[in-house]
Amino acid sequence: MSRLDGFISRMHSQRAVLNHIKAASMVAPDGVILEIGLGNGRTYDHMRELFPENRIIAFDRAVGSHPHSTPPESDLILGDIMETIAQFAGLDIAFAHADIGTAYPEKDAKTLTWLPQSIVAALKSGGIAASGLPLDHPELEPLPLPTGADPGRTYFYRKR
Ligand SMILES: C[S@@+](CC[C@H](N)C(=O)[O-])C[C@H]1O[C@@H](n2cnc3c(N)ncnc32)[C@H](O)[C@@H]1O
Repeated sequence: MSRLDGFISRMHSQRAVLNHIKAASMVAPDGVILEIGLGNGRTYDHMRELFPENRIIAFDRAVGSHPHSTPPESDLILGDIMETIAQFAGLDIAFAHADIGTAYPEKDAKTLTWLPQSIVAALKSGGIAASGLPLDHPELEPLPLPTGADPGRTYFYRKR
């Protein structure tokens, strides 16, 4: 598969999981959502459409998002996520979406030394996680992928 096809598959899969979370009402309207890796803000914008009543807090090193999909300052946490996400431990987050994979195995392996446990610490019991990198953790129960999501492109869990 070409890198272009791989990218398209990843985007289709990401959207399919987000749309499924919405369709299955897996996030209550008063639940706080974390967008881990704001990037250009395309996914943030989609999540904002899907979950208009929820507060969505986005993380990145610096603002690189399009002005039309940049969160308000109060919902933007800048810096290294490995450090900044720690302040959300125990805050009963309803849904965490992470898109910080790089396709460089050594970099992703480093990210995976802190990402799964950081998400587990932030989520409430029954909270949902979706990620472009696998989140192997005993407290995260893998959920079946919805139609339209390709295995290996996106990962989907509920906190036990
Ligand atoms: C693939 S992009 C996210 C794309 C996003 N879903 C969108 O729709 O534009 C990943 C983003 O995560 C950020 N990122 C990755 N690892 C990070 C870390 N440890 N700390 C802060 N930001 C990080 C990068 O700066 C980048 O902007």
